[in-house]
Amino acid sequence: MPTDWFDEDVAASYDDGLAPMSEAGIDVLAGLAGPDGRALEFAIGTGRVALPLVARGVSVAGIELSTAMVSRLRAKPGGDEARIPVVVGDMATEHMPGTFDLVYLIFNTIMNLTTQDAQVACFANAARHLRPGGAFVVETGVPALRLLPPGQRYVTFELTAGHVGVDEYDVLTQSLVSHHVTTGPDGSTRRRAIPFRYVWPAELDLMARLAGLRLRERWTGWDQTPFSGVSQSHVSTWIKE
Ligand SMILES: C[S@@+](CC[C@H](N)C(=O)[O-])C[C@H]1O[C@@H](n2cnc3c(N)ncnc32)[C@H](O)[C@@H]1O
Repeated sequence: MPTDWFDEDVAASYDDGLAPMSEAGIDVLAGLAGPDGRALEFAIGTGRVALPLVARGVSVAGIELSTAMVSRLRAKPGGDEARIPVVVGDMATEHMPGTFDLVYLIFNTIMNLTTQDAQVACFANAARHLRPGGAFVVETGVPALRLLPPGQRYVTFELTAGHVGVDEYDVLTQSLVSHHVTTGPDGSTRRRAIPFRYVWPAELDLMARLAGLRLRERWTGWDQTPFSGVSQSHVSTWIKE
């Protein structure tokens, strides 16, 4: 089982200050699920996306590694097991009974799978849960390697009084470690380093093809802006053949 980086400590403050999922994003997911659709969220977390999607009439289930994150979902109105069933386990291998119109994995979470094998397995697992014609949606960042001159490996993504965030890239292993130093109101500091595997859109397309999925759309974001050479993120939809 992969390491659970979203323990009680992280889960307790996960929703603090986090923007809700955009209406445009919920529109896209609800449209792909279709009327009376069934959706499966890989890494459902605290229900930031699942709850508004359920409010649109989509039936949503989840697979999630962290019991602490699931507890936060369960504590929210409408987040009970009867309405949003969740299997605790690894989204690369875990099974949720049923067949789905839509599987989605957003907020950069494909990168939480830190090996190529695990990411390939995740695509296969998505395909296994989909009906033919069903959609797998991934939202994630485009690796920021173009910001790195040769020999450099660090990209600062936030520098405020309360938070210093630095991504450390290893171009040899395609690994990425996000370093966070947070300073509390009392001046105490805390350091965390979380491992990821960064991945290009083209490599994801190949994983999709291995799983019997074909690319249908790629946008920069949920507002459906076309993907371009300067896009820093993408929302990609593959269809099960
Ligand atoms: C950034 S949060 C995203 C949560 C939710 N999808 C959202 O958009 O708010 C990442 C989530 O992925 C979960 N996660 C990480 N690796 C996982 C894995 N291998 N299988 C299932 N869940 C995983 C974490 O526990 C955490 O809840």
